[in-house]
Amino acid sequence: METKIVKVDPFGRDESLLIPCAEVLRRGGLVAFPTETVYGLGANALMPEAVSRIFEAKGRPQDNPLIVHVSRPEAVAPLVRDISKAAILVMEAFWPGPLTLLFARSDLVPPVVTAGLPTVAIRMPDHPVAQRLIDLAGVPVAAPSANLSGKPSPTTFEDTLKDLKGRVDIIVDGGPSGIGVESTVLDISGPVPKILRPGGLSLEDLRSVLGEVEVASGIPSQGPPPSPGMKYRHYAPKAPVFLVIGSPEEQAEALRLHAAKHLLAGKRVLILSSSENLPAYAALKENWPESLTVLELGPREDLARVASRLFSGLRHGDETGADVILSESFPEKGLGLAIQNRLERASGGRTIKPIAEPPHKSPARPEMNVLLVCTGNTCRSPMAEVLLREIGKAECPEIGLNVMSRGTAAAGGMPATQEAMRAVAERGLDLSEHKSRMVSEKDLSWADLVITMTKAHKRTLVERYPSYSGKVATLSEASGGAVGGDVSDPFGLGDPAYLRARDELEVGLRAVCERIRRVTSNRDGGKQDEDRSGK
Ligand code: TXA
Ligand code: MG
Repeated sequence: METKIVKVDPFGRDESLLIPCAEVLRRGGLVAFPTETVYGLGANALMPEAVSRIFEAKGRPQDNPLIVHVSRPEAVAPLVRDISKAAILVMEAFWPGPLTLLFARSDLVPPVVTAGLPTVAIRMPDHPVAQRLIDLAGVPVAAPSANLSGKPSPTTFEDTLKDLKGRVDIIVDGGPSGIGVESTVLDISGPVPKILRPGGLSLEDLRSVLGEVEVASGIPSQGPPPSPGMKYRHYAPKAPVFLVIGSPEEQAEALRLHAAKHLLAGKRVLILSSSENLPAYAALKENWPESLTVLELGPREDLARVASRLFSGLRHGDETGADVILSESFPEKGLGLAIQNRLERASGGRTIKPIAEPPHKSPARPEMNVLLVCTGNTCRSPMAEVLLREIGKAECPEIGLNVMSRGTAAAGGMPATQEAMRAVAERGLDLSEHKSRMVSEKDLSWADLVITMTKAHKRTLVERYPSYSGKVATLSEASGGAVGGDVSDPFGLGDPAYLRARDELEVGLRAVCERIRRVTSNRDGGKQDEDRSGK
């Protein structure tokens, strides 16, 4: 299908271009258009065939009902059985605006719109283009967010085009949506009004008019979810999203360590940061200018700004080919409730907790588990193990390095070779207690970072344990190229070969530590800069 693009005045001042769009909508076509929350994908709500095409175009599950959009409050009456006093109260206070209300539906509303539910969700958007379009169409317009099902809602024409080009008749370009998160869905049928989906209208605003208002918590374990949309994975870019929790300082610290682990393993990382914490990621960015993107969502005190950038931020991960997205969390007040709800759902429960403060020790030291892997676990990786422990103490004292070594084809219980023992003894290190061990899934799950001696070792581990592939890097990769390629096997080649391997390991591991140190030592650097600027 060819998708026509119609660019209109975002203030709705020129309707000449909207008239043909409204005609397409009225006759059963699909028209995507801007609202003040996010872009919507509209169809004539009174034509079941047109509404069905929305589900096809988005790949939306049939049991997830749509919101019906009207351009004036009078348009509600024919669609519902009854308008309660509470409904009138909030309609007067908040319409047009980011508030969707549930009503008992009249027979005029086709079941496909409400996915067979007895209730219909209705809202009057506060966007001149949406209002004029619906008005000109002269029919109520069913419109979900204009994204492919599961993806973050589009807040710009460009994002809408990316998802829906070739799938709909018209996309109206009316500039960016102002609010950036979807409407608040409110059920006012019970004695206490209940928010089924937090959104662009805050709980505090609703309480100021309605008094007591509750927020539906998650999905009940029994029975249908209060709002069908709550059971689907939503707002999810391709890369996994991790949500970091804790105080702003704790978040920066934990997020930085987490990012460093991924970056050391050669991954591309997107950080969604508050304005306040930006300086905390400066050193990381300096170290990995190519593979790290830090996106500023906005100040913690200006959640409207954060909301307006949230979905494009999540979508940015896909555009930059990020392997992982790490996001800060925001205070759950005002729009923050909706922001946190979307971030939690985008992350699907993946959280990063603050680095634990041991009860009687001070100060807390972040820890990192490093696994070193070669073939037999008798030469290279045992040397690397004792070397890294020693180098780590000197090069990155701020971080507690836990180090182990294993082999991809190790016979269990073998001592390190005599040559390996001699080579590290020159550094005052002892390998006499070492016993070789075969690498296991448990070791990979324990490790934050797995460093292999060669590309072949990495390949073996990735093939054997694909779900841990994100942690595995060659020494060459983890050291940022300080070691050129593979650390070759000295086995059977005599002392000189072992000394060469040891020297190479030292250089590589020192570079790994140096990178870790630069990341963690940023802790105070950023804050001091802020203090000096008089904040
Ligand atoms: O801001 C918005 O609400 C945007 C713009 C385009 O208006 N629309 C939007 O629609 O976000 P959609 O379809 O992406 O989300 C509608 C939500 C879903 O979670 C759906 O399950 C819920 O509203 N919903 C719709 N009808 C419902 C009903 N009768 N009962 C309970 N929940 C309903
Ligand atoms: Mg949606």
